[in-house]
Amino acid sequence: MKFAFSEISLPKRGSLAVPVYADNSFSPMTKEVDDLTGGVLSRALETSRFKGKKGDLLEILAPNGLDVSRVVLFGMGESEKIGQTDLEDLGGRLVQKLNSSGARNVTVILDGLGECAVKDSDAAAFVAFGAKLAAYRFTRYKTEDDPASEPSLVRMTVACKTSAGARKTFVDLEAVAEGVFMTRDLVSEPANTLHPETFADRCKELTDLGVEVEILDEDKMRRLGMGALLGVGQGSVRESQMVIMRWNGASGKKSARKPIAFVGKGVCFDTGGISLKPGPGMEEMKWDMGGAGTVTGLMKALAGRKAKVNVVGVIGLVENMPDGNAQRPGDIVTAMSGTTIEILNTDAEGRLVLADALYYTQDRFEPEIMIDLATLTGAIIISLGHENAGLFSNDDALADKIYQAGTRVGEGVWRLPMSDKYAEQVKSPIADLQNIGTGGRGAGSIVAAEFLKKFVGDTPWAHIDIAGMAWSKKDTPTVPKGGTGYGVRLLDRFVRDNYEGK
Ligand code: BES
Ligand code: MN
Ligand code: ZN
Repeated sequence: MKFAFSEISLPKRGSLAVPVYADNSFSPMTKEVDDLTGGVLSRALETSRFKGKKGDLLEILAPNGLDVSRVVLFGMGESEKIGQTDLEDLGGRLVQKLNSSGARNVTVILDGLGECAVKDSDAAAFVAFGAKLAAYRFTRYKTEDDPASEPSLVRMTVACKTSAGARKTFVDLEAVAEGVFMTRDLVSEPANTLHPETFADRCKELTDLGVEVEILDEDKMRRLGMGALLGVGQGSVRESQMVIMRWNGASGKKSARKPIAFVGKGVCFDTGGISLKPGPGMEEMKWDMGGAGTVTGLMKALAGRKAKVNVVGVIGLVENMPDGNAQRPGDIVTAMSGTTIEILNTDAEGRLVLADALYYTQDRFEPEIMIDLATLTGAIIISLGHENAGLFSNDDALADKIYQAGTRVGEGVWRLPMSDKYAEQVKSPIADLQNIGTGGRGAGSIVAAEFLKKFVGDTPWAHIDIAGMAWSKKDTPTVPKGGTGYGVRLLDRFVRDNYEGK
């Protein structure tokens, strides 16, 4: 789908979308359209439940008195209450509606914004951004498409007062959307094609954008002593990999600063290993590489918009399989840090992968801050459902920055506590650590975070458990069902607000 921005005027063809504010009050352009049609809009509203609320949509086909084939009224609510995510959702809802009703081109008129706190050019760009995010589809494996369900919309023009500014803002947002799409593509890809080596190949594609990509194979990781990560992958016929992606976008004095680091869990498939998971729903574990997917998509977004910051992304890629050579419950492995770990459940594998990835990242890069993302625990879905990711941190200021960024872009995080009391649970009687807690099902996500904390040293660090967020079973306005790309927008915002331009 293509996007354009224009000055405010009525289009000669295609579809037209115009705003209606709270209590069905019309913007100037909506009023003009109503007049041109001899009051069709007003009459349509009289026979409908449409009230001009956010999310309300009403489609009027073949109106008399206009060149266009349809008019869609969209509710905006009260102008002073409109924020970025409302505008993105609007773009997304229009795409969903128009794709199902068969429109090819639409002009969205954004006038009458009045007291809206988002500036005009940004508002238009956010509508297009939301539309772009909603228009994503994972079609790689569809050899035939049902023409009746094919999306029809090919072009959206957003008309606003400051279209040149909107066009400029949209360039960066489009780069972010491309990052989100890379994450969605990776997360939706099945594990028979996406395994550690093919995942690493996808990362290599980022060199085109100026990202430096380095790959550690099993030999190299063995020499580095990464026994925790390698133990997880040892039952798989696929080679484990670690990928290090670097984007050096800072210039001047800032270029000497330490990088900020993102680390991702990349379990390309999680059967549970010898502690095998139950069969039903196991197919979902193809997206157990969601953390690595987000880190990779984030690198694409940052490089794509040439972010003025030095960033390193590190992902640990493995496949957790049961096998004659697989790791057993009771095995003891030695992580790169020298810490010994007793494996009491081979299904608690993500923390083992991250143990080495986190330790390696802080040891080699001494980052200013380090954030990991992982589909780490089913328990976080019990705590927070699919509305917020779990946030854990050893640094209040860092946690707050992440929370603020999430709120702003509509990708929620909620912080959970950590303390030495929980950390007690991962002490092993015969090794330094054990990979599951002694508390049974209680506080499973926190105990997992305490385990990770053992490998971050003094680095300001945050862990985001995205097990409830990486995949969606339902469509929302800007996220079609499937891999969501959760976290790319959040961390792009986090980087933008805290590490660029300072
Ligand atoms: N990948 C899973 C966590 C998960 C579960 C993600 C459901 C998404 C949906 C993780 O490796 C795992 O198996 N965790 C175990 C930990 C337990 C053995 C301590 C879990 O959550 O049950
Ligand atoms: Mn597991
Ligand atoms: Zn897992």
